[in-house]
Amino acid sequence: VLEEKDAVEAAPCPHAASRAHSLDAIPGPTNWPLVGSLVELLRKGGLTRQHEALVDYHKKFGKIFRMKLGSFESVHIGAPCLLEALYRKEGSYPQRLEIKPWKAYRDLRDEAYGLLILEGKDWQRVRSAFQQKLMKPTEVVKLDGKINEVLVDFVGRIGNINANGKIEDLYFELNKWSFETICLVLYDKRFGLLQEKVNEEAMNFITAVKTMMSTFGMMMVTPVELHKSLNTKTWQDHTAAWDRIFSTAKVYIDKKLKRNAVRAPDDLIGDILHHSCLSKKELYAAITELQIGGVETTANSMLWAIFNLSRNPGAQRKLLEEIREVVPPDQDPCGEHIKSMPYLKACLKESMRLSPSVPFTSRTLDKDTVLGDYAIPKGTVLMINTHALGSNEEYFDDGKQFKPERWLRENSTINPFAHVPFGIGKRMCIGRRLAELQLQLAMCWLVRDYEIVATDNEPLDVIHSGLLVPNRELPVAFIRR
Ligand code: HEM
Repeated sequence: VLEEKDAVEAAPCPHAASRAHSLDAIPGPTNWPLVGSLVELLRKGGLTRQHEALVDYHKKFGKIFRMKLGSFESVHIGAPCLLEALYRKEGSYPQRLEIKPWKAYRDLRDEAYGLLILEGKDWQRVRSAFQQKLMKPTEVVKLDGKINEVLVDFVGRIGNINANGKIEDLYFELNKWSFETICLVLYDKRFGLLQEKVNEEAMNFITAVKTMMSTFGMMMVTPVELHKSLNTKTWQDHTAAWDRIFSTAKVYIDKKLKRNAVRAPDDLIGDILHHSCLSKKELYAAITELQIGGVETTANSMLWAIFNLSRNPGAQRKLLEEIREVVPPDQDPCGEHIKSMPYLKACLKESMRLSPSVPFTSRTLDKDTVLGDYAIPKGTVLMINTHALGSNEEYFDDGKQFKPERWLRENSTINPFAHVPFGIGKRMCIGRRLAELQLQLAMCWLVRDYEIVATDNEPLDVIHSGLLVPNRELPVAFIRR
């Protein structure tokens, strides 16, 4: 193993090294028998602090390092040049780390896999059925009416439940907002989550998603087969939750499939359902996973955008000026307005850099690949660290500061591979365009109607619980303008 000092210097760009070293030569933290770096990681604050430990490791070992947690080995990459190299060498069917508990449920109930867990040609087939509509801004912008329908309720609700400007459990309110929006987009169905009294069906659905998400982590680190054969509580709760999710989703997808009449122009999903060659089973799985992928990620990004605006009143003022300039007082913000709002887009981008929701994504190499100075064998799991990239001063000057202006400079030197909150390449987030529009519109509505103020200026601790979340209630208040 290289010396630490060598390690930092041993991974220079450009990436095409003439003599690549083997996987074993990649530096990394202590690798004890059986536990690997687990003890060291626990000492550094445990799994909830892993994002900080990984940033430290990148500082210590450089652009690339190797780590073992128990029997799980991965190679971490945190440099734009390595991401670019990976992107250029990407095959036709990039793979992420397997989510075995989800696959186990589908196999048990003979359900199909969706985009989050599909691989190979099947993944590509399902992906292309959705790609055309979901990744095209001119298509996605048609969803602004549906997004706004929910925003009217959301912004109204913020006013109603607001005690001295403070909202109790803002994160849950945001999760309800994004759940309601994605359900309207996918199923044409309002669940009424933003009403005073939420109906039972909606609550059951949202609770099932929560349970499913909170039970699969354990089965990622311990063998799912064991949970299944012992019928552990975790396995039982997980399958019961998926049962409820699937049975609810199927009812609404079936309803949409039955509606063969002329579809509204904003019925992107209806078009996909009717025109794709996917089987009903595949559609159930794909739509359900779009929903799973789109709720907490969007709510979390909105939470951080609210936080960053509260701590940066200057940027918020500038954003308000842009909103007032572009959106006439007698109109509501819509997709068309967003097109002429560069500062709004920069605010969202900067918030996602400084406070990314998804700290990392992964790739399982489907062929031997040279990255930087190393030849990495097929089958290796690569972790792509968005969080480490965004907080690295080498790629972002004054990186701890919220500076939307950095994205608007004419001669910007920001490397596009240094900002990847939605992942990269063919397997990038398929909900990206939808999420961006939803978040931009939400920021517009909120900042137009409320001043978002910081209620304290203490540092906010961030913890990793799948996504990066604040460890306390967000210190913000909404004051009606
Ligand atoms: C994949 C982030 C919103 C559905 C991903 C990935 C990331 C991500 C990092 C992995 C990409 C990769 O491996 O390169 C986010 C963030 C969001 C968001 C930060 C909100 C701000 C959404 C929405 C939907 C969605 C709204 C659904 C409409 C998916 C799906 C995948 C995915 C289905 C898997 C795509 C595939 O493997 O083909 N997302 N996402 N996401 N996301 Fe999102």
